[in-house]
Order: sequence, then structure tokens, then C-alpha cells
Amino acid sequence: MTKNDRANFGSKIGAILAAAGSAVGLGNIWRFPFETGNHGGAAFILIYIGCVLALGIPIMMAEFLIGRRSRANTAGAYRQLSPGTQWKWVGRLGVLTGFLIYSFYSVVAGWTLEYILQAVSGGLNGQTAEGFINTFNSFVSSPWRPVVWSVLFVLMTHFIITRGVEKGIERSSKILMPMLFILLFVLACCSISLPNASEGIRFLLQPDFSKVNSKVLLGAMGQAFFSLSLGMGCLCTYASYFRNDTKLPRTAFNVALIDTLVAILAGFIIFPAAFSVGIRPDSGPSLLFITLPNVFQQAFGNIPLLALLLSLLFYVLLALAALTSTISLHEVSTAYMHEEFNLNRKKAATLVTIGCILLGMLCSLSLGVGSQFKLFGMTLFDLFDFVTAKIMLPVGGLFIALFAGWYLDKQIIWEEISNRGTLKVHIYRLLFIGLKYVAPISIILVFLDQFNVFG
Ligand code: PHE
Repeated sequence: MTKNDRANFGSKIGAILAAAGSAVGLGNIWRFPFETGNHGGAAFILIYIGCVLALGIPIMMAEFLIGRRSRANTAGAYRQLSPGTQWKWVGRLGVLTGFLIYSFYSVVAGWTLEYILQAVSGGLNGQTAEGFINTFNSFVSSPWRPVVWSVLFVLMTHFIITRGVEKGIERSSKILMPMLFILLFVLACCSISLPNASEGIRFLLQPDFSKVNSKVLLGAMGQAFFSLSLGMGCLCTYASYFRNDTKLPRTAFNVALIDTLVAILAGFIIFPAAFSVGIRPDSGPSLLFITLPNVFQQAFGNIPLLALLLSLLFYVLLALAALTSTISLHEVSTAYMHEEFNLNRKKAATLVTIGCILLGMLCSLSLGVGSQFKLFGMTLFDLFDFVTAKIMLPVGGLFIALFAGWYLDKQIIWEEISNRGTLKVHIYRLLFIGLKYVAPISIILVFLDQFNVFG
């Protein structure tokens, strides 16, 4: 395939929505609230925003420029920009990381489908708090039900991916993203109008820095990478489909802004609602599947139809957000297989789908029948989450920053960021300092701190 017949996003807004669709996902609505809850609320959010500005935006620009310059999948991109060197491993690490994320992510994405069904069939109505815990635990540990849902989710993703970049990825993002914003907004309004919601709002807005330690820093950094889809070549792959007139700085800024706003809006849905019925915010990953249905039930139980409608809306929202992200996760491996192994797109996508279904199955089973089998004291599911978000993504981000900040020719960076000199870019110097010094040094410091190097 020559570069000229390579697919492109048809419009600038399509490119922004697709990249924002990748970024906005379970990370914002499922992971962000429990990380915030576990790490003390507003202080975590402030540190998180600092990570987005200091690390997230520079690294996102680096991924964008590497992808668009090379017009190749992420492994091919590094090979092309640095022929004959070992940098190609950064791209390959990205493909592997993306594949591992996809496998546990599709399990949680599958749960959203079960909860949509439960909501529609009235299964969530009239249950007690105990009941929700039992329902969730028996569902996730069942040997087949969650597996079937995650397979279905991967197949939906497969269907969109095989329709191609413009007709599949871009078109679906243009439909799904606006729906997502409307749903988020409606649910946040409902949540903050509940009695005692102000306590939850205070938790989100009043920082308590006494809780900040290195774990909080690593948590915020890992969350920033995960939520912005950084450090694994996802945005690099998408940028390889950007048009030449797409403005990289503006796109990066918009994606980071949309992603952060959605995460905070998700906080405004979850914490006011949880506090309003006296539920602790740090109940972990099950927050969305145990706490929230309970909240809807307790808050609106006397109007069953409203409780049903809100739960339904919420799980549809989650499923849509997850779908735009699984599409991007799938695309990284599909583009890699397609271009590096000369498979046609359909075949490449099919192999990725089969691989993800198999690994996803293992992740899902590790929460039930396989829960005795632990590696480093964690189930496979928890291990994949931990290793990808807290190790592989920051390491990937570190190498991306080093590649763009130290290795790549400055002329290339300038040409890409300024669209070959046609744009005025005021933050160029700042971006460069971010890539060269701030990102690598802070990632290394946070890592060293984990191993108590600083006492
Ligand atoms: N950013 C996505 C989310 O917040 C997850 C993701 C990570 C997607 C890495 C692609 C790559 O849910």
C-alpha cells in the first residue's frame, strides 16, 4: 500500500471527536472516580490536572507528530523515523500494552451490557444494598455470563473497525460523542439536585493535601496516561490518519480539555449521588456497578420508572464511552498487523478480535472460577490493570518524550506542529521543555519514589 491510498479522517472535527472518543471512556467514568475516592478527592484532582498539563499535553503532541509525520502504524512509525535503531521497540511495546488493556477493558465494557439488560428488565428495581452486592459478585464470578457479554462487545468493536477509518471510526465517533455529552449532562443535573448532594460536591472541590504521598502521585500520573490514551501509540495511530491541515496543538488541547471535563462531570454524577445516600466514595472499582444502582434505587425508588430510566441512561452512557475507546484500542493492533505483516484489514482485525476474546476470557474468569490463581498477589484482571496503567503506559510515555525531545530532528517537530510554518505556535518552546525535561524527569522521579529511594 502506498502512502497516498492510506485512509484519512475526512474532517478536522472528525479527527478531534475520534481522538476524544478514544480518550473518553471507562477511564473517565469508572476508573477516575474510584482513584479520586481512594486518594482523597479534590487534592487528587488538582494533581491530576497538573499531570494532564505538564505531561499529558506534551506527550500527546509528540504522539500526534510522530503519527502524522510517518503516516504509519505505531511500530512502523518509529522504524520509519529512526531507521536501523532500537526505537522501534517503543512502538512494539505500545502495541502490546494496547492489546493487554483491550483484554481487561472489554471485560468491564461487557459488564455495562449486562447492566443495561438488568435495567431494562427491571432487575435493578426494588433491591437492597446487600442485594446489589450479591448481584454484582455472583455476576462477575459466573463462568459464562460476563464472558458472553465481553465477546459481544469485542464483536461490536470488530464490526466498526472492519468498516474502515472514515466510515467506521469517524462516523461512529460523530454520532456517539454528542450522545455521550447529553447523557452526562442530564445525569449530572439529576445527581446534584439530590438531597445532601453538597457533601459530595465538597469532596470534589475542597482539597486536603495531607493525604498526598507518592502513591497518590503515581495514581494521578497513571490515570492521566490511561485516561488520555497516552503512552501506547493509540493517538499516534489515529494521528497517522489526520489530514495535513489538522492543527496538532489545537487538537491536543481540545482532546485533553474534553477528557478532563468528562472525568470531572462523571465525578459530579457519582459523588453527590453516593454521599446523598451515605455511601463511602472509596468503594473501589465496583463503585459503578454496586454503589450507583443502589443510589438510583434509594434516591428514586418510590418512582420506579424514573429509577429504571436513569440506570438505563447511565449504563448506555458507559457502554458508548467504552465503545469509542475499544475501537481505538482495536485499531492500534489492527493497523499494526495490517501494515507490518501485509495482511488485509479484515484478516488483521479478525486476528486481533480472536486474540482479545481469548485473553479477555482469562481476565474475566480470573474474577470467578480462576480467582485462586494469583500472580504477584493479584488476579489476572487486577494485574493487567496495574501493570498497564502504572508501569507500561508511564514507561511508554517516558520513551515517547525522550524520542521526540532528544532524538527526533527539531525541524521535523517544528514542521509538524506548525503545519510547515503556516501556523503561529506560541507554546512551541514550552512544549519542547515539557518533552525534553519535565516529562522524563517527573516520570522517573515518581517511579523512584515508589521504590522508596528518597526515604
Ligand atoms: N482512554 C481510555 C479511557 O479513558 C482508555 C484507553 C487507554 C483507550 C489507552 C485507549 C488507549 O477509558
